[in-house]
Amino acid sequence: MTNALQVSLILPTRNEAGNIAEAIRRAHEALDGIPHEIIVVDDNSPDGTADLVRSIAADDPSVRCIQRIGRRGLASACIEGALSAAGQVVAVMDADLQHDETILPKLVQPVLSGEAELSVGTRYSGGGGTSGWSETREAQSEWATRLAMRFLKTPLSDPMSGFFAIRAETFRALIPNLSGRGFKILLDLVFASPEALTLHEEPFVFRGREKGESKLDTPTAIQYLMMLYDRVMGHIIPARFALFAIVGGLGVAVHMLALIACYQLLGMSFLAGQSVAVMSAMTFNFVLNNLLTFSDVRLKGWALLRGWVVFCLICGLGAIANVGVASYLFSETGVMWTLSALAGILVGAVWNFVMSSRFTWGQL
Ligand code: GDD
Ligand code: MN
Repeated sequence: MTNALQVSLILPTRNEAGNIAEAIRRAHEALDGIPHEIIVVDDNSPDGTADLVRSIAADDPSVRCIQRIGRRGLASACIEGALSAAGQVVAVMDADLQHDETILPKLVQPVLSGEAELSVGTRYSGGGGTSGWSETREAQSEWATRLAMRFLKTPLSDPMSGFFAIRAETFRALIPNLSGRGFKILLDLVFASPEALTLHEEPFVFRGREKGESKLDTPTAIQYLMMLYDRVMGHIIPARFALFAIVGGLGVAVHMLALIACYQLLGMSFLAGQSVAVMSAMTFNFVLNNLLTFSDVRLKGWALLRGWVVFCLICGLGAIANVGVASYLFSETGVMWTLSALAGILVGAVWNFVMSSRFTWGQL
């Protein structure tokens, strides 16, 4: 064994001030005898995690902190950690003491020896498991796991795991192909690899959390599903656009219901009823897109109000484009009326999507 740096351990943190010192201490203990560095990637936690890590690093040069400002997300944090890693092997572990650090040597060894490119801590084989999880959380995890397994080239028993070690070169070579979105960096890596990675799995028991809280919420779950979809079908229709179009379809239903209510039941004029229906449908679409399609960049507070106004303006122009294209095709080129209408809808939908991605939610 040489003294050259072998392992770069990445600990992503968001509000882990109560755990990080202990996590670093235990990681050092577990990796004793294996030359290693510890890189904490903190997303500007308000609880002062980064300051704490810097104070530890002041006495311990094998530890450092990357503090990210204005960027969020577990997957992208791991990517930035890997980009700054100098070891031969990059290992990723949660900083909240839920991952069993005592398996670290067994986890990294197969990658160090070249026996495997990827080594994963698994809850679902050998003696692995979870402790202190609610039934709902277990069921969600199982469902997400089964879904992912259908599409995997590398046969992971626990594709949701966030505890793994990988050859640093392999990790970095895959970065340009990663989606970087959401929570599941391991899954993202495995999907990004054109060939199956040689695999070692190491069972461990996922511990309960004692301090701080989990950051897994509904938007993360939605992003997970969108990432899976994108990997499988995204080259045909991207997940965001597919969701946007489905929401648009539901908007048509909302429009018709509102029109029936105003015009037929309440006896309003058609013009008034149609106007109410248009506003209802646009507002419905805006709210649902904000919750689902753009869950990762959700607007809140005043930005929500501003976003709604911008969205309505964009859709108004989209409607004009829709009618313009449809009537041009129908009257000038003699395309069948149904096809003319569909072409108008498509142009309107793409316009609404592109413009509102850019100007309502600040994407693209
Ligand atoms: N930098 C950064 N940015 N770190 C984050 C972020 C973020 O946006 N969100 C979470 N983390 C850190 C947490 O501070 C913690 O150290 C680790 O990532 C895991 O986050 P938790 O919020 O504790 O996740 P969990 O316990 O619900 O989920 C775990 O289970 C999954 C398997 O179902 C994690 O271990 C995942 O890695 C694992 O895939
Ligand atoms: Mn956790």
